[in-house]
Amino acid sequence: MNTPGQGEIPYDRIRAVEWRNDRLRLIDQRVLPQREEDLFFERVEDVSKAITDMVVRGAPAIGITAAYGVVLAARARYRQNHQGWRDAIRGDLDHLKAARPTAVNLAWAVDRMAAVIDTFDEEMDPVPTLLSVAKGIHMDDVAANHAMGRMGAALLTPGSGVLTHCNTGALATGGYGTALGVIRAGYADGRIARVYADETRPWLQGARLTAWELEQEQIPVTLIADSAAPFLMRQGEVQWFIVGADRIAANGDVANKIGTFAGALAARQLGVKVMVVAPTSTIDLATPSGERIPIEFRAPEEIRRCGGRDVAPEGSGAWNPAFDVTPAALIDAIVTERGVVEAPEPDKISALMAGGSA
Ligand code: MRU
Repeated sequence: MNTPGQGEIPYDRIRAVEWRNDRLRLIDQRVLPQREEDLFFERVEDVSKAITDMVVRGAPAIGITAAYGVVLAARARYRQNHQGWRDAIRGDLDHLKAARPTAVNLAWAVDRMAAVIDTFDEEMDPVPTLLSVAKGIHMDDVAANHAMGRMGAALLTPGSGVLTHCNTGALATGGYGTALGVIRAGYADGRIARVYADETRPWLQGARLTAWELEQEQIPVTLIADSAAPFLMRQGEVQWFIVGADRIAANGDVANKIGTFAGALAARQLGVKVMVVAPTSTIDLATPSGERIPIEFRAPEEIRRCGGRDVAPEGSGAWNPAFDVTPAALIDAIVTERGVVEAPEPDKISALMAGGSA
């Protein structure tokens, strides 16, 4: 079954999140590329756990998943009690929002759904309205990705080589992708000649997910170890380092997958440009700078193990931030669905969010 926008433009065939037959369908991203498995969800608590456990990941995809999770919560609470359901659902929403701390799209989506709940009469069945709002959030995200794909690709000189980090594609969004959407669009119109992807330790989103997506679309990709990025840039193979974001602070600092900062530092030193591609739902004006962005730390086992086996002695410590912050000064362009902000700074970001020109 098609979901919003699917199949309308080239290289846009994958949907990782879908409302199907009154349930939420998620591709289980933990087992790709070895297995392509769908999981189905009917309970909000299982949706929260799926977000924490990385069944679904990527900031916009997490937000859309949470919006559908709110629909499931409302259905259950309304069935339990037609009167008190609006109070009972509050704990579900808080639990959903806490599933992962860095991606602001999660809180953004839950807050949007909560604002709609606040407008309901107590006894009205909330499910049809909430479902249509969740589908709207999903559809808007796909449309934003298509728009960002066009705008980001227009920044590339034909024949460019690009390097990307983590997975920012259809799997990480409502469909098509942010940074990977730019790569899809740039490849479709001949501006991109070479795509490189960092493997992205420790979860290997680049090796497992970005390479899988590009293979599905028959777009050639070359994987590199994360630590090979500066040397690749030094060879003149890539002109742009193109990444997504989990949260963009009001001053343009960007939190994204661990390793983005290292890539951006190398890029600046070596004359490679840095493009961050993210919808405005990722911009958090309430967070003034990157220092205030909450960074998720994950289990040490993710570092101590790789490919299902131990790679370090049992007693060794491990420090495992899932994200880092790239200062705005290292970023050449932030591409959003509302426009491109070049050399980001606070005034330009606030003008963009206020609806003015970037
Ligand atoms: O830990 P993950 O896989 O959820 O991290 C994802 C990223 O860092 C992405 O770059 C970001 O969410 C943008 S996805 C369009």
